[in-house]
Amino acid sequence: MRRWMTLVVFMVVVAVGGAGALPATAEGLFPASVASGDPRPDSVILWTRVVEPAMPDALLVEVATEMDFADVVFSQALTVSADNGWCVKVRATGLQPYTTYYYRFVYGSGADMEISPVGRTKTTPTPEMDVPVRFAVVYCQDYIGRYYNAYAKLLNDHDEDIDFVVHLGDIIYETTGDPSFQDPSSERNIEFSDTDVAISLGNPDDPYFAAAGLSNYREIYETYRSDPVYRQVHERWPMIVTWDDHEFSNDAWGATSTYFNGRVDEFSEERKRNAERAFFEWVPTEVGVGSDGTINIDDSVLWPNANIHRDFPYGSNLHLVLTDSRTYRPDHLVPEDAFPGTIAVDEPTLRTVLGDPFVDVIRESLDAYVDMGVLGLMLPILRQTTASIAAQAYMAENPALGFVDAIRLAESHLKGNVSTTYVNALYAAAGLNPPFSPEIQAVLPRGVSFMFMGKTAMYSSSGSRNILFWDPFNLYAGALWATMGSAVQNLLGDQQMAWLAGVLTQSPATWKVVGNSIMMTPLLVDFTHPQIAPLLPPEFPDTFKTRMLLTADQWDGFPQNRLELFGLMGMAPGTVVISGDIHATFVTDHGDGLYEFTGPAISSGTFGDLVERAVLGHPILGQLPGIEDLLAMLPQLLQASTMDSPVTDSTILYDQTTNHGFMVMDVTDETLTATLQEIDQSEVFTNYYDDPSTLDGLFTTTVFTIEDGVLRPGP
Ligand SMILES: [Fe+2]
Repeated sequence: MRRWMTLVVFMVVVAVGGAGALPATAEGLFPASVASGDPRPDSVILWTRVVEPAMPDALLVEVATEMDFADVVFSQALTVSADNGWCVKVRATGLQPYTTYYYRFVYGSGADMEISPVGRTKTTPTPEMDVPVRFAVVYCQDYIGRYYNAYAKLLNDHDEDIDFVVHLGDIIYETTGDPSFQDPSSERNIEFSDTDVAISLGNPDDPYFAAAGLSNYREIYETYRSDPVYRQVHERWPMIVTWDDHEFSNDAWGATSTYFNGRVDEFSEERKRNAERAFFEWVPTEVGVGSDGTINIDDSVLWPNANIHRDFPYGSNLHLVLTDSRTYRPDHLVPEDAFPGTIAVDEPTLRTVLGDPFVDVIRESLDAYVDMGVLGLMLPILRQTTASIAAQAYMAENPALGFVDAIRLAESHLKGNVSTTYVNALYAAAGLNPPFSPEIQAVLPRGVSFMFMGKTAMYSSSGSRNILFWDPFNLYAGALWATMGSAVQNLLGDQQMAWLAGVLTQSPATWKVVGNSIMMTPLLVDFTHPQIAPLLPPEFPDTFKTRMLLTADQWDGFPQNRLELFGLMGMAPGTVVISGDIHATFVTDHGDGLYEFTGPAISSGTFGDLVERAVLGHPILGQLPGIEDLLAMLPQLLQASTMDSPVTDSTILYDQTTNHGFMVMDVTDETLTATLQEIDQSEVFTNYYDDPSTLDGLFTTTVFTIEDGVLRPGP
């Protein structure tokens, strides 16, 4: 019965559908429908999923130039396997360049036959073909409690006129309800069938979970693909995807997660490989494509060998280059468990790196320190008392620590140079007299402590990857770069960096568009800026009348490496950066003709919302006078902070921090145009899938064009 129903539906839709109309997604054997990706001039990757078929070898893929499949140009028998979570990927070959194709999967024959929905895809032009290109740029599509209205708008407006979709990562989120940005009370939520293999987070009595086992990750992809609008996106266009952090774990680096901020070792190769395996199963990338539909995911394509950075020459006007910003990066320069009192850069190092005149100017603003190892020998009571207070602080933040371990940990950090400001603060918090008077501090050497960068807790993302003081952090990063070399900031890794240099400098394309999951635009709030300082209330504390760095998880956290990258891109005129991850919109002039476009996220909690929650929930920042007014001005603060800035050459030309949406890029032999489509974040909780006219009225459109190396507003 199901077979006939499917066939009848299919034939009726084909018969009544106008030009370009595709059959509606069928259920039956193909509930996740179909997808295509990674197009080439003569091939494209095709994807489907057939759950527990009675005949695993009875699947066929067909590719044709017309929707009626009268002229099948490629077909291949395929095998379905539980080993791949019932997913199937195949490369359709022998295709013509820059050609639209229709594809479908056919299961069984005769009375048992069942046909998938029909997908549409398009091969790339050859590098010589001078054709205009239009593509959509999307990223960050959290499903929990949020509707894909941005995708609905993309489908409504561009069904017939875009060539492909670029996805810059966070194609899934790994958690079932992180209260900092997800609301699982919605009907759109995720539940793992096996929570024993997941990571339990939050309140132990009412936890939420992060995927860790393969089944967890697979179930997330399956749930996301249950959304009818998202399925249509995959059915309509080939998608070219890179991953960001949430395909594995929030703010991850390599195979290390950051949920516990250093309290435990979160390095897990098994979890990373599970995440990658599910990604390669569900995402229509070239990686893992076997010869018969089975997906070859062995150690050669999994951590630490995964290579998903790749490039797509697209005619003579576009060369799309996708990087992997997550797999090879080192830890954040300030680790989440950095001891706040540790002097990260001492005075001799500062003098060597920066020179005496500069250090003499800034010296008063730095942190007086003592060598606690030496001082502790002379004053054992000071050492013991300080260790005891620090151990209490460790235990307060990490109840799993016993006193012996806490003392051992504290003493391990009280052997080298330690901030006297921090020690004084520890004593004051414990109700004791601070041991270092201003007179003593005045004669001590000075350096940069982690505390001066914003790290006040033993275990925290604050002061590590989120919300740091800009100037001390950049001093530290620069000193590390000068003394330890580039390895500490090598975000892309040597092999990827060399590959990127080769691709960019050798590409003859008019435009080299580098798709980058994390943003290069500075997220600087400069409270000393002449446009911003007057906005602060009189009672705003002096400590915060400084420059703040909102997240070091982006390229801001690797400033010298970013300069290196800018230098490389400067050698390849026509390079343009597109970025994701940040859930906000930015158009940025990085100088020397390099521009960056960051569109809004499809659905994930906006940057404005995340910053507001983080700041208002912060014990110190949340109490700053006027903080709510300042948060309401976040886009203006970010933009103004980059105007004629002494600390960055990048200038934000446009930004919005509370919108969702997508970006469409048009590329010709003379111009690159970015069209930003934005909708207020409040609309993400309403389903507009069947109301295109209302949805259309909720969007605003903003256009920027680059021509002759100059960026201007408008088309
Ligand atoms: Fe995201």
